[in-house]
Amino acid sequence: MGKLNGKTAVITGAANGIGKATAAVFAEEGAEVVCADVNENDLLETVSSINNNNGKAASVKLDVSSESSVQEFAEHVKSTYGTIDVLFNNAGIDQEGGKLHEYPVELFDQIMSVDLRGTFLVSKYIIPLMLENGGSIINVSSMSGLAADLDRSGYNAAKGGITNMTKAMAIDYGRNKIRANALAPGTIETPLVDDLAGSQEEESGRQFREAQKWVTPMGRLGDPREMATVALFLASDDSSFVTGETILADGGLMA
Ligand code: NAI
Repeated sequence: MGKLNGKTAVITGAANGIGKATAAVFAEEGAEVVCADVNENDLLETVSSINNNNGKAASVKLDVSSESSVQEFAEHVKSTYGTIDVLFNNAGIDQEGGKLHEYPVELFDQIMSVDLRGTFLVSKYIIPLMLENGGSIINVSSMSGLAADLDRSGYNAAKGGITNMTKAMAIDYGRNKIRANALAPGTIETPLVDDLAGSQEEESGRQFREAQKWVTPMGRLGDPREMATVALFLASDDSSFVTGETILADGGLMA
């Protein structure tokens, strides 16, 4: 018996990295997964690998930063599934922008609009589909939402916002039996790290990974599936009295 048998889960940013791994783990645990992303090609790969593995997954194109795209997505989800049990707000971008006085306004707006506004918008339009039966919302924050990084004030602001907005959701919906928690990953080996620092083949990417291993007590980067299993705990009844919490999964980096 899977921990999510009979549940329907919406996963944003499901085409790659943590979202892709979480879609696979949720499906293995019996959930029907609605996989959403702007990247349609990679999304199809996520969904077909789940379906080929006897899971149940569907793909829907979604830009979390666009209100009209989110509204259209929510209408489609409502007409196809009726209610939703789990929402994994994971879509996100990250980029260095220099010290705050040099940080481009356009980059700040872009990161805020995908990471923070996107989490707000998807929650705003999917929560109505959770009100009847209750459910679990997991917002992907970051260790960068609990402490700061050099040259990444936009990302720090967005992820800090997600951590506190999660508490707001927990308070707003506790009596509707909707729990809301955040997952704060450390450094996880995904395409986002390639975009931020360079791939494992590039010198900048290699140096970044060596530095991350050095500062991480467990001496390595995390694997996306190690985030998916924390998300599973938060999605399932194993965490039935946990709400408003942020779980840090960083190999001890912030200890
Ligand atoms: P990733 O880059 O591998 O995957 C992110 C996915 O989000 C991609 O498939 C991308 O197409 C999608 N996406 C981007 N903008 C979107 C939009 N406007 N609408 C819909 N989908 C969109 O990244 P990763 O690492 O899997 O990140 C997932 C989450 O984890 C993000 O919120 C990120 O900030 C967070 N995180 C990642 C860490 C890491 O070290 N990889 C560390 C801490 C947090």
